[in-house]
Amino acid sequence: MDNRPIGVMDSGIGGLTVFDQLKKVLPSESFIYVGDQANLPYGEKTSEEVYQLTKRIADYFLTRNVKMMVIACNTATAAAADRLKRELPIPVIGVIQPGAKASVKVTKNGNIGVIGTNGTVNSKSYERLILKEQQDANVFQLGCPDFVTIVEDGDAGTEKAREVVADQLKYFDDKNIDTLILGCTHFPIIEKEVTNAMPGVTLVDPGMATAIIAKNQIETYKIASDGKPKPTEFFTTGDNEYFTKQASTFLTTTITSNKLDL
Ligand code: DGL
Repeated sequence: MDNRPIGVMDSGIGGLTVFDQLKKVLPSESFIYVGDQANLPYGEKTSEEVYQLTKRIADYFLTRNVKMMVIACNTATAAAADRLKRELPIPVIGVIQPGAKASVKVTKNGNIGVIGTNGTVNSKSYERLILKEQQDANVFQLGCPDFVTIVEDGDAGTEKAREVVADQLKYFDDKNIDTLILGCTHFPIIEKEVTNAMPGVTLVDPGMATAIIAKNQIETYKIASDGKPKPTEFFTTGDNEYFTKQASTFLTTTITSNKLDL
């Protein structure tokens, strides 16, 4: 039995969409969540900057004796997952490979769209991993940093969100995609707006596939808890009251968070 918590991180509240799936698949585990809102958006930073920011959260997790790190952020996965997998003494899981694999299972015509931050899109990580799984796939990527702002500003569900999402996703009008990866963990929060703009297209949220990989790793490393999870500790490096308010509107339970200075 291993009752150490699992560390989950994102630049903000987006990673809570992955945390939600982790809680469903691993109800017996304890979690520590860190939203690095003081440094949001990660998507407009260089890959090295994002690696350094992610590394310092990994170092914090190690001081908290976590048994696994889940990078619940596509941008940080693209910039830091490979390095941290080599550097940390614990399993590290990202969201891109699970999302890429899930999309290939779903597509029928091989035309797959990806929406994410500019950092994720420019890394071409999704494209590389999708083509590894299915060589004849056509991958169309679109950077949508404004969608992150909509979510972090609490504008999901508003007319403004509907308009911005519909307008930007026009890019896919002539691409004949049948599958669209929500390649940013903030985007499941505006899933309704995306569905409305892309009728008939199957959306892939990498969160569930990531949670299943986390479960498999726990089994492989034999590090499951004894079934008595502690309440999740939520931290933000930004404004604590704001994080608590935002997270509580999105999660089904009310939470309290703490300010973290790293
Ligand atoms: N949630 C992050 C992701 O999945 C991105 C948000 C940001 O730009 O910080 O890529």
